[in-house]
Amino acid sequence: MRILVLGSGAREHAIVTALLRERAGDGPAHHIIAAPGNAGMAAEVEVVGLDATNGSVVTEYALENDVDLVVVGPEAPLVAGVADVLRAHSIPVFGPGRKAAALEGSKTFAKRIMDEARVPTGRAVRTGTLAEATTALDEFGAPYVVKADGLAAGKGVLVTDDRAAAIEHATYWLQHGSVLIEEFLEGQEVSLFLLSDGHTVLPLSPAQDFKRLLDGDAGPNTGGMGAYSPLPWLADRFGSEADFVEEVIETIALPTVRQLATEGTPFIGLLYAGLILTEQGVRVIEFNARFGDPETQVVLPRLESPLSTLLLASANGSLSSHAAPVFSSEVAVTVVLASEGYPDAPITGRELVGLDAALAVPGVTIAHAATARLDDRLVATGGRVLSVVATGAGFTEARSRAYEALGRISLEGGQFRRDIAAKVAE
Ligand code: AMP
Ligand code: GLY
Repeated sequence: MRILVLGSGAREHAIVTALLRERAGDGPAHHIIAAPGNAGMAAEVEVVGLDATNGSVVTEYALENDVDLVVVGPEAPLVAGVADVLRAHSIPVFGPGRKAAALEGSKTFAKRIMDEARVPTGRAVRTGTLAEATTALDEFGAPYVVKADGLAAGKGVLVTDDRAAAIEHATYWLQHGSVLIEEFLEGQEVSLFLLSDGHTVLPLSPAQDFKRLLDGDAGPNTGGMGAYSPLPWLADRFGSEADFVEEVIETIALPTVRQLATEGTPFIGLLYAGLILTEQGVRVIEFNARFGDPETQVVLPRLESPLSTLLLASANGSLSSHAAPVFSSEVAVTVVLASEGYPDAPITGRELVGLDAALAVPGVTIAHAATARLDDRLVATGGRVLSVVATGAGFTEARSRAYEALGRISLEGGQFRRDIAAKVAE
């Protein structure tokens, strides 16, 4: 197939890597094009500099270049309706249309869908003024959970014991729209990805993300500083990972997908269920309408079924004729290398060295995010620069490989967490 992958992050690089693993004879089974891609993807596949959020531009490119499948990585093109334009031209696309993508783009929409579908989630109050927000904060009490309603590039959520900070966050985001005040939920977090063709869902293997910047879950929320998969501790509580996944499908994913189908906005793409396992049961903290970053970097390396087949079957509505994806028993750990100053004010333009030495560590791959080639140097161009991914027979091995590889990379001021998957390795 000719597959166009939209996006420029480590998630998209991980998708490209998984697609390149599919072989036909001596070569890759597919011709892959990334738009706009990054330096890592450019070393492996064709990259084109087009505006991935412009539906007409993407559609014109896909038609002129005989693209068989478009895979949308980030949320921005989805919320901008790029998948709608492609679908209107009968181009198979993995990614929901604008209306279904509101599951991620509008927390109010997501809460309404969950409400209608009786999907368990935290109680929340939508507020439009500071007075309403303050009242809701005092009703729920500490710890306070304050969420911007719309897309906020990972900066919209604040969880804090500090009432003044909660009010300040609400004040800021009220300038941009409404704000949700939510009940605080306590428990382990799980990211579960489900492929959806609008009616049927097939699960991928669960992962856990580390959202805070610093070791011990301290510091500000980020896009994600690391992840691991699978989650062996799920078996302690649910009997097995499969039993957990089945419960999420029955109580969360299918009701949500059915509700969206009933409303005439079928969800075709990746339903990302962000879950908290509270003592009262599994609760949704958020849905995303796309693969998670960095969880994708640990889920896809473990996928043994061909990714392209699953993405195409989702796009053309034939998932029900496919078996559940199969995963390797190997584990995967990823650690994100971020620029100095991330997340507030990342310093960019600094040189990255040592990637070849890092790649020489067994089981290690690198998913590039914010990288570019400048003459013959590789430079960091943003906050989250790359994800080092390591597989191994167990978490101790995968972690030591990932950290050995990171130790071989140098980036002035670079930051990374040292405790990714530490607990699960014990
Ligand atoms: P989100 O952007 O919705 O994924 O939220 C970012 C992070 O904030 C989540 O991964 C959780 O760690 C935390 N969070 C969000 N909602 C809640 C909640 N209701 N209770 C506790 N923590 C939450
Ligand atoms: N890792 C969190 C996200 O992709 O939203």
